[in-house]
Amino acid sequence: MTGDLSATSDINKAVEGVDAVLHLVSTTLPKSSNEDPVYDVQSNLVASLQLLNAMVAHKVGRIVFISSGGTVYGSPKYLPIDEKHPTDPEVSYGITKLAIEKYILMYGHLHGIKPVILRVANPYGERQRVETAQGAVGVFIHNVLKQLPIEIWGDGSVQRDFLHVSDVAEAFAKAISYSGTAGVFNISSGVGTSLNSLLELIGEVSGGEVPRVYKPGRSFDVPVSVLSNDLARDELGWSPQVSMKEGIARTFEWAKKEVAK
Ligand SMILES: NC(=O)c1ccc[n+]([C@@H]2O[C@H](COP(=O)([O-])OP(=O)(O)OC[C@H]3O[C@@H](n4cnc5c(N)ncnc54)[C@H](O)[C@@H]3O)[C@@H](O)[C@H]2O)c1
Repeated sequence: MTGDLSATSDINKAVEGVDAVLHLVSTTLPKSSNEDPVYDVQSNLVASLQLLNAMVAHKVGRIVFISSGGTVYGSPKYLPIDEKHPTDPEVSYGITKLAIEKYILMYGHLHGIKPVILRVANPYGERQRVETAQGAVGVFIHNVLKQLPIEIWGDGSVQRDFLHVSDVAEAFAKAISYSGTAGVFNISSGVGTSLNSLLELIGEVSGGEVPRVYKPGRSFDVPVSVLSNDLARDELGWSPQVSMKEGIARTFEWAKKEVAK
């Protein structure tokens, strides 16, 4: 079925008779969420609370929620960032994700709903939407295939923690049957890759140097964001399986077919 997370009738239909909810809806993006925090809160936080209420009414006992490893912590105080790192989000998107996390944990205590929060780092891979422009990998590959210029904010040394989407899916599969006591997990590669290294990898699979234009850096881009995945390894028995090289090759092959359509 399809439906709107803000519509209680849709939500009630969706949760009826199910054992678990996997919550991946987001109506906003990190970089634009500050433009309208009221919309962010209403369409994500309030709607998620309505979902939790529907789960209580329909006695659904488990939820796995996708949170944001890239925004809930704010500027890193130390690296790699573990789940005990302070949470000081600098964008509405991160504040809303964190508030949803807290309500999910509260409903866990109050109503016995088993919560698992996955703070996912920088996912990429096949079927990533380019038009929402969330994620350097999708945009860079798309631009290479379309022979469009690639703009890098700063000198390209900025490092991010990229993770193939199949590894994220596998984390959900593990989370859905998790019976331990931890509730919040980073889901990440645990390794920083610079934008320059990413372009080198894309160059290797596309068969040539990737042309790029370096622009002045943006003040809100932290130089390095890498998340520890030790807790997910220990508790969920999960670990990333797809190397950057393999993941980029798979994504490039998929994007090539899409562009040719
Ligand atoms: N892409 C990333 O870098 C990243 C990183 C960490 C976490 N996340 C989270 O992962 C999830 C998926 O992200 P994505 O990058 O695939 O984004 P996306 O925009 O492609 O996916 C969001 C989905 O939510 C659906 N949606 C939006 N409003 C809705 C509504 N009112 N009712 C029902 N469905 C609605 C959209 O149709 C879309 O399928 C989001 O919750 C996002 O916050 C993304």
